[in-house]
Amino acid sequence: MATTHRSSTTPASPAATATSAPRWQRAATIADLNETDCKTVHVDGRTLVLWRAGAQVYALDNRCPHMGFPLDRGTCRDGILTCHWHAARFDLRTGGTFDQFADDVQVFPVELRGDEIWVDTAPQRDTRAYYRQRLRDGLEQDVRLVLAKSAIALANGGGDPHEPFRIGLDYGVRHRALGWGQGLTMHTALANLLPQLEPADRPRALYHGLDAISRETSGSAPRFVLQPLPGTAPDLATMTRWLRQFIAVRDDEGAERVVVSAVRSGAGAADVAAMLFAAATDYRYIQIGHALDFTNKAFEALDITGWETELAEAVLSSVVRGIAQGSRQEESNAWRHPVDLVALLEAAFPRLEAALADGAAQRGAWAGRVPLAHKLLEDDPAGNVEALLDALRAGASAEELASAVTYAAGLRIARFHTSNEFGDWDTTLHTLTFAHAVQMGLRRVASAADADGAALALLRGAFDAAMSVYLDRFLNTPPAPLSAPGPDGARPAALLAGLLPLLDRQQQVNEAGALVAAYLAADGDDALLLATLGKALLREDRDFHTIQTTEIAFRQYALLRGTPAAAHMLIAAARYLAAHAPTARAQGQTYSIALRLHRGERIYEG
Ligand code: FES
Repeated sequence: MATTHRSSTTPASPAATATSAPRWQRAATIADLNETDCKTVHVDGRTLVLWRAGAQVYALDNRCPHMGFPLDRGTCRDGILTCHWHAARFDLRTGGTFDQFADDVQVFPVELRGDEIWVDTAPQRDTRAYYRQRLRDGLEQDVRLVLAKSAIALANGGGDPHEPFRIGLDYGVRHRALGWGQGLTMHTALANLLPQLEPADRPRALYHGLDAISRETSGSAPRFVLQPLPGTAPDLATMTRWLRQFIAVRDDEGAERVVVSAVRSGAGAADVAAMLFAAATDYRYIQIGHALDFTNKAFEALDITGWETELAEAVLSSVVRGIAQGSRQEESNAWRHPVDLVALLEAAFPRLEAALADGAAQRGAWAGRVPLAHKLLEDDPAGNVEALLDALRAGASAEELASAVTYAAGLRIARFHTSNEFGDWDTTLHTLTFAHAVQMGLRRVASAADADGAALALLRGAFDAAMSVYLDRFLNTPPAPLSAPGPDGARPAALLAGLLPLLDRQQQVNEAGALVAAYLAADGDDALLLATLGKALLREDRDFHTIQTTEIAFRQYALLRGTPAAAHMLIAAARYLAAHAPTARAQGQTYSIALRLHRGERIYEG
């Protein structure tokens, strides 16, 4: 900001608002500017550049807000300062940039007192509000460095740690015509991982999620959230019936209006979940499990932000298209031939209610998770369906049954043989994500008004997942041996120290699994292991399936903690990570630049 009005103070730029009391400092004299119209000064702990343009003097932060190059090495012409590194241009008066890859440079009010130049060095902008806006700019413009800077600033600024997540969520569900996709799923999965990560890694996880949304929405038509039905909404049972009817005929528009109306009517998360999960399990393994997985993630996203009606309408309606339009395994060859799995399932579903009723008296005492999971790995689909029904009769709750199926799906990964085609890692992962989503859905609908009906509907998903586990059997042919603990006496700290270097090399699948097994067998601190696995995930280029595997493994580990099954989930995650590492780590390079800038380091000096 500049002035030639002697002994008078002008406000900062129109866009800037002083956030603390003025701190006027003598910075230089007019004579100091006579030779070059430019002078660098160190005032009140800041390095500023004074530029004279015509009769005006301006004071700006000397660090280019793009990547830190000194602005006193720039060129000033017609009121525009151009940085000499990547040519970002700035309005001298306000500091606003004309190049969205850069940020606005901070400017400071100037006052001339006689021949002296005085500068008010007090902070001139609300940093949090600024980076909130820059985060939106970064999402709109798809500028990775801006996203990284914003995530770091907002995560470290001492405000609501969930604010950047919420901004990304709200943006993502409104800017992709196809609705909820991989970007929002990664964004939510990474946010779920935050508590297990080292504090320094948390902004990096937010950055990856935000960047995933930006990439996915870039170039997409926006999505317009429908208005609810006018007046008083029908009762939940009617809306549930309508939703299922509209999904049946793949009418996503009608189905979306039902969902929005249900939320606006005041239905809570559990009741809306019951509606959506019922519709998502009326058909077999829709969209190879993604439709139900995405639905579960949408609810988890709202768990993070808190339930707000308008946001919940936008978020939950965004999953409807995938449920309505996704492929149904009734139409797939693999689920029909040589064994008609769909027919097996449709014969079993009418028996679910009676099986649950038979087991009611023994509920809470079932301990058959491990043998059931091993049975599900067998090449016996009809027998596996009966085993599931038997487990219900023996007292397994719907969620316990789903937990056993999820464990079986995890074992497929823990025992995935590296002689398989590489792309088949994803096949096992799809089954795991679906099974896990069914289990989480069952936990969620437990507080629905019609919890029993909701569980009965969703239980069909657990049977679907068991059939998918069966179909994945060729990926364990032969099964890789379950990683055995290493030699006695191995020190946990030494083992853990070897994990990241191990994942710097390709083809370390079995070694990574064995290391994790040995670490846990040696009573290593599991919190440190989770944080290290999280670090290993975040330093690689983002991969949808690896993020999903890691997040699910962490969640399942927490649910199974204290049992041998828990270790198998982390072994599965370590093996999956090792199969997909190392990458070029290009996304991390951008983050590292942003972090160095945040710390005030000089990038241009190497
Ligand atoms: S434009 Fe100034 S550092 Fe890149």
